[in-house]
Amino acid sequence: MSEARKILVTSALPYANGSIHLGHMLEYIQTDMWVRFQKLRGNQAIYVCADDAHGSAIMLRAEKEGITPEQLIANVQAEHTADFADFGVNFDNYHSTHSDENRELSAAIYLKLRDAGHIATRSVTQYFDPEKGMFLADRFIKGTCPKCAAEDQYGDNCEKCGATYEPTELKNPRSAISGAVPELRDSKHFFFKLPDFDAMLKSWTRGGALQDAVANKIAEWLDSGLQEWDISRDAPYFGFEIPDEPGKYFYVWLDAPIGYMASFKNLCARTPELDFDAFWGKESSAELYHFIGKDIVNFHALFWPAMLEGAGYRKPTAVCVHGYLTVNGQKMSKSRGTFIKARTYLDHLNPEYLRYYYAAKLGRGVDDLDLNLEDFVQKVNSDLVGKVVNIASRCAGFIHKGNNGLLLAGNIAPELTEAFDAATPAIAEAYESRDFARAMREIMALADRANAWIADKAPWSLNKQPGKEAEVQAICALGVNLFRQLVIFLKPVLPQLAKDAEAFLNVAPLTWDDHKYLLADHQLNPFNALLTRIEPAKIEAMIEASKEDLAASEAAPAAQGNGELVKDPLASEIAFDAFAAVDLRIALIEKCEFVEGADKLLRLTLDIGDAKRNVFSGIKSAYPDPSKLEGRLTLYVANLAARKMKFGISEGMVLAAGPGGEEIYLLSPDSGAKPGQRVK
Ligand code: MSP
Ligand code: ZN
Repeated sequence: MSEARKILVTSALPYANGSIHLGHMLEYIQTDMWVRFQKLRGNQAIYVCADDAHGSAIMLRAEKEGITPEQLIANVQAEHTADFADFGVNFDNYHSTHSDENRELSAAIYLKLRDAGHIATRSVTQYFDPEKGMFLADRFIKGTCPKCAAEDQYGDNCEKCGATYEPTELKNPRSAISGAVPELRDSKHFFFKLPDFDAMLKSWTRGGALQDAVANKIAEWLDSGLQEWDISRDAPYFGFEIPDEPGKYFYVWLDAPIGYMASFKNLCARTPELDFDAFWGKESSAELYHFIGKDIVNFHALFWPAMLEGAGYRKPTAVCVHGYLTVNGQKMSKSRGTFIKARTYLDHLNPEYLRYYYAAKLGRGVDDLDLNLEDFVQKVNSDLVGKVVNIASRCAGFIHKGNNGLLLAGNIAPELTEAFDAATPAIAEAYESRDFARAMREIMALADRANAWIADKAPWSLNKQPGKEAEVQAICALGVNLFRQLVIFLKPVLPQLAKDAEAFLNVAPLTWDDHKYLLADHQLNPFNALLTRIEPAKIEAMIEASKEDLAASEAAPAAQGNGELVKDPLASEIAFDAFAAVDLRIALIEKCEFVEGADKLLRLTLDIGDAKRNVFSGIKSAYPDPSKLEGRLTLYVANLAARKMKFGISEGMVLAAGPGGEEIYLLSPDSGAKPGQRVK
């Protein structure tokens, strides 16, 4: 076997002001499965995390609860670590960003950046709450939307119409903290000069550290030009004061990723064989992986590598991005009871069910992942209980009854064990590349083969025939061995099932390489049901309890996040109101003609019921004979701002699909639709 790899792995640090929910768990379970796989393979894998304890939201929530921020973050950390432990998430260290290690590392990194000329200062004008005596992050300003006049909207976007704006554009602004009318004030801010790292980032982001979709998104940002990043906040703020700058604090996102290093450093201090520099030094041969959600890509794939580079550290081997969790096809919702906290789930269901379901659905991409609760019940019951555990429960009894639990040597179906062996590299490869869904499919295909073979041999009927005892024992010995193989392959996903299976099998903790041999002349322990079916009533109860959680949290609303809204860069979601604002209508193409001097455009004259419209559309290459479009119905955006073009004014737009060129397909309604009808 090749030499063991040294691998440091992190998950994003959860904010210390809210509970862990099933969306978060997607990330921690994904990371944990990957780390467990690496450990099972004999690699040195270390998984560190921490609570992200700084920021104004935490400060304000502590104030509201009448405790110190330190007390608040200690309480939350106790809750978080219990949730993670009970989901089988096995950190090598779980620390806090509010720690000595992080304070020292943050100061040192900042000073290195400053001394190398990567820090700039300039004055910034911001809203200030005169009653509270603090500058207000966008989240803490409310007012009337400048676009649609909806009241009680946040400082940077309107939940009603989806508009985004500057806090200074809000009408009738109010501090969400004190209700006071905010004043504009100037203050000196510190900026990290991200553009200094443009060339490095262009090559690093294309060097295999990112999934394609992420690299492409980042290329767009790089092409549109990097901005300096504001890394300071004024007192009062819960965080670290900037060295030599009294009253100025590091913005929480400056010291948060440094928290990865700090957690590792804290682990090194009590683990003599671990060397901090061997993992973080410029010359490190170790691998470094950050698992994160798609909303925080800019921090991890731009700011963080630039900070590391500027301060003389190594950069991540890869940033592994996952999508968002939806429940029953929709964003988690408190009123529907699908905003499910980790603890609420644990109160009702076995954590291994969820670990398996997430594994079965997690590929390499950044797509959102849906927890469909019906599918969840069906899949867990059919795969884990019906396929995997079933093999052991079908075979164990005969070995206990017929041979006092002694599993006999032998292999009566070498073609089966060979098939298992042959599938092993593909399973390992799928895990390694974080394609858990593929790994699960391969494993379940093996489980299907094992079950089909056992069903064909039917030891339960042979057992009733005299003289067949040896055959029954031989079938069941192989059955249990195949079960053992499946348990090895599933161990990163189902650590508790593996532990219980190891107890039944009476073996030391299984490692990946154990798949290479079979148990022979081996005493088994009594078999107890390893996993039971999910009862749908438990799901109902969990949903009901999640609605109750809502009632409790409404009594004491807690700000989520760090108080500064981070927009989801990969999301394309819009509010319903934004969609409803589009005036989509059926249009009849009355006339369609070439436009002189234009290579791509056709001129359309549309009948939209109560009016005629002139539209230029870039669909000429797909419709070389424009007259063929005349008389046809299509979809039309009626309230798009008119655009002045070289050839005249284009009023709105017709809808078409396809990659372009000859492949453009104009959309049409079913027959019977009338010009002017609105799309609903
Ligand atoms: N504190 C920051 C991370 C700092 S890392 C140096 C933060 N915290 S968080 O609590 O909001 O989120 C923690 C992780 O959970 C992030 O990677 C985030 O993308 C992920 N998720 C939070 N909600 C999620 C879903 N609904 N679905 C999937 N992942 C989600 O961001
Ligand atoms: Zn609005």
